[in-house]
Order: sequence, then C-alpha cells, then structure tokens
Amino acid sequence: MKWWQKTIVYELYPKSFLDTEGQGTGTIRGIIEKLDYLESLGIGAVWMTPVCLSPMVDNGYDIADYCQIDPSYGTMEDMEELFAQAEKHHIRIVMDLVFNHTSDQNPWFIESSSSKDNPKSSWYIWRDAKDGREPTNWRGIFGGSAWTWCEKRQQYYLHTFAAGQPDLNWADPDVRKALYDAANFWIDKGAGGFRIDAITYIRKPDVFEDGKPDGEDGMISVHDMTANTPGILEYLHEFKENVTEGKDVFTVGEANGVSAAELPEWVGENGVFDMLFEFSHINLEFKGIETWCRPRPWTVSDLKAALRSSQNMTKDNGWVPVFFENHDKPRCPDHFFPKGCSRNKAAKAIGMILETMRGTPFVYQGQELGYGNVAWPSIDCYNDISSHGQYAFALSEGLSETEALACVHRFSRDSARTPMQWDDSANAGFTSGTPWLPVHEDYRSDNVKTQSDDPDSVLHWYMKLAEIRKTYSDLTDSAYDEMLEEDSCILAYRRGRMRIFVNLSDQPCTYDGNLEDNGKTVLCSYPSHTKGELQPLEAILLEVL
Ligand code: GLC
Repeated sequence: MKWWQKTIVYELYPKSFLDTEGQGTGTIRGIIEKLDYLESLGIGAVWMTPVCLSPMVDNGYDIADYCQIDPSYGTMEDMEELFAQAEKHHIRIVMDLVFNHTSDQNPWFIESSSSKDNPKSSWYIWRDAKDGREPTNWRGIFGGSAWTWCEKRQQYYLHTFAAGQPDLNWADPDVRKALYDAANFWIDKGAGGFRIDAITYIRKPDVFEDGKPDGEDGMISVHDMTANTPGILEYLHEFKENVTEGKDVFTVGEANGVSAAELPEWVGENGVFDMLFEFSHINLEFKGIETWCRPRPWTVSDLKAALRSSQNMTKDNGWVPVFFENHDKPRCPDHFFPKGCSRNKAAKAIGMILETMRGTPFVYQGQELGYGNVAWPSIDCYNDISSHGQYAFALSEGLSETEALACVHRFSRDSARTPMQWDDSANAGFTSGTPWLPVHEDYRSDNVKTQSDDPDSVLHWYMKLAEIRKTYSDLTDSAYDEMLEEDSCILAYRRGRMRIFVNLSDQPCTYDGNLEDNGKTVLCSYPSHTKGELQPLEAILLEVL
C-alpha cells in the first residue's frame, strides 16, 4: 500500500486558519505555528486550498501567478519553511491545482485579451458575438452568463465560474505545457500531492450551441453543456505522464459530473488520478449541478446507496477519498441530520464512517470540532461569491427575499469558512485584528482549547479514531463488506475483523445482534452499548477476536 492510502488528509483553509499578522486573514506562518496541533490529529498530509497570488474574487481559486505566494499569506520563504517544518512533523503538503481557469489578472490572460493575434491569443476560450450578444445561453456556475465581453479584443471569453476566472484553452499544447511546468515547480518544492480543482471542465465540446433553458433567465448551466466532455481523459493521461508518473506524490481530482460508474476509467492502475472526489453522497439534494432553490428530499437509504456505489466501483481497482465536508459545503452535523439532534453525536457518527470506510479520510478544518453552520441576517453579510449568485438566481425564479436567504442559510459555503476557533478569547484566538468573516457565535464554548480538556469531545473522538486506524490495519487494508443493506437507518459494514454500526437516525434502532460476531467494543459514542441495539446516532466499532 502507498503512504497516502494509510494516512489521513486534513483539508486546511488557510484564510481562516490562524492569522499571525493581525490582518484578519490567516497566514502561512499561522500554519507553521500549529503544526503540533495538526500532528496531534494523527494526520499525514495537509491539503491547502490555494495560496498563490490572487485578487481573491473566489478566495484564491482565481490565480494570477501559479509560482508566487499571495502576500496576504506570506512569502515563498514562508512556504518553503512550511514544507520543511511539516516534514519534521511527518506531514506532507498537498497543493491545490486550479487548472481549468486563471484569474483575469494573470499576465497570460492580460496578454491573450490584448488582441486577436498575440502569442497567447489562443490560451483562453474566445468567441465572436452572436447577433450582437453572448455566443451561447450558458449560465456560469456562480450565476449570470458564462461569457464576458472584452472591449479590447472585441470578443467574448468563456468562464465556467466568475468573470474574474477565465477558462484556459487546454486544446492549446502551450497552455498544457505551462500548467505542467507549474505543477512540477511545486513537486520540486516538496509537494506531497495535488488536489486538482474543477477538472471536469477542462475539455470543451467541439461545437458551442445553445441548450434548453433550465431557468426563468433563459439560460442553462454551463455544467450541463461542458462537464466531462469526451476526450477529457486524453489530456489527463498527458498530465499524468508529464507531472506525476513515477513520483512519490498522489493526486485527487475534483470531479463534479463524473458518476460512480465512470470511476474505473479515472482512478486505479489505468486511470489518470489516484483518487477522485465524487459528490453523489453529499449532493443528495441535487440532481446534477447544485441549484440551492431546488433541493430534493432524500433519505438515509439514498445516502447509503451513494456510499455503496463509490465503494463498489473501486473495490477491485482504485481508491476513494472518503469525505463529508469541504470548503464548498455546509458543515454536516446540522445539515445531514434532523433539527434538534445532538451535534456532538452527529459529528461522531460522521467521523466514525469517515475514518473506517475503505479509502483515505479527508477531514476538513473544523470538522474535528463538530462545527455547525451559520445563518446570518442578510445576504450582505455573506462573502462567498456563489451565495450571492444562488441568491440572485433564487429571486429570479420567483422566491421571496426571505426564501432566497433561507437557501443561503442551508447551503452557503461561508458556513465552512468561518475562522478556526482556537480558544475562548476575542475572535476565538484566530486574529488580533478584525476577522474577514465573523467567528461563529458558539466559539466561547466550542473551541480547540475547551475540547482538548473534554474527553467526550468531538476532537478527542477524532484523535482516538486516528489512533485506532493506526492500530487496526484492517481499517486501512481490508475490503468493505456492507451488512444490513436494506435497513433504512443503520449503516453497517465489516472491514476484516472490524464491525462498524452507525445509526444515522435520531430514533433508537434494533438489528440482528449476531452480526456483531461477539465483537469487543473498541470505540462507542455512548457510555454503554447493548448488543443488537443502537441509540439515536450511536456509532460503534467492534473487533472480532
Ligand atoms: C472548485 C473549488 C471552489 C471554487 C471552484 C472554482 O469547485 O473547490 O471553491 O470556487 O472550484 O475554482
């Protein structure tokens, strides 16, 4: 097995981690300062969301230079020191490659937009106006048209995301080479792997045409017109050959639009990445692309089916990143479970699944503390660009302001981006300045310090789970063998000698106690367990002797 299959990855959102400058946003030195904490979580890799030079239209996912650090985070020397210090803590640093698009402030785009015949003219996706307007009726993922007019060049450019994030033209071999060089730059610095952003959008269809509108605005999501276009894997095989093949780094692609059935082509021996973030289990409320004002009801059985299919598809060949939270999703304890549930128990139930399924667990900053979501009183309180786009779309679909705000409360990415809560001092110890996003109101009771002192805390649960993963190799090495498939509340499985039972409902449940095989309790979220019975949200791990 490879090191990244045995380890736990921590996704770190640097802007909200720790500010050492009193500027209100996190710094690389802040990460260095907290390496002891990260090590204590038992993790072996930290995936940092982008820290490269950026005007921050989308919090760093709009890169103006792939080989420079944004000054708000620090310097290249700080970054080099982070690589060096992290190694001493047995932690590899994983970089976020944002390769579908750059910032509109990137010199590549500035040059490309300057005329139709400059050397980088074909580095982005340019089209003439059609009948005096946008070439197609595609809606960008953050709302509004996916096309923006460029006066200088007298053409439109395509942006899957914000206007400040023009899409690169991967059909141009010079673009691909420049991107491979950037990735290799970070491997040379010591990167232990890459998370590859929004990768399903890099290949565009040969013909650009209007799609059937899916909203009152007469547009269709660009996702439905361009995601996962046939031929995309050719580019990615080339990426693999030029960047990662034969090197001790891992790759995990963000692959919205790739179904579990397609996983074998993407991962494993003959695939392009080591792992793929496949979203079906956390996007249960949406069919296709996220449309916050059109959520669908879902059940625990749907969640189980989604988890089962990604486990099954990678059973013989391939590996999964197990994850429930990230910087684009609301916190799960009070999103996945009925109102009024214990947040502590819900966080533990998710933590148990995260750390015991087959795959590499990805813990998202703050998940180890069981954070909840925020519900701010007005859309103006939100920073997240997608919250603003989704709010405007909801209004255009006829929802009232109150209803549109309720959608933002439920799904906003800001819920996952509030500052890390270190202690109960002002601003939760995150900054001595004004935090860029308000600190969650519960920070006085819920923070690293209070949870460190409480053996029943979510933090201790995560630390124990990490220890257990190291002790019981069946949790990393053995096959996933589901039990109680038809049960509508309990997720249960065997991993070698280990037995895992998690009640995903807020009601007590029973099952055939023989399935426990007289296993001995290794970890349980309640003080005691009765064979064949689970209390609300109970999570138990047993070892068969
Ligand atoms: C990915 C990132 C998200 C970003 C988007 C555009 O989905 O996770 O945060 O907004 O790509 O780069």
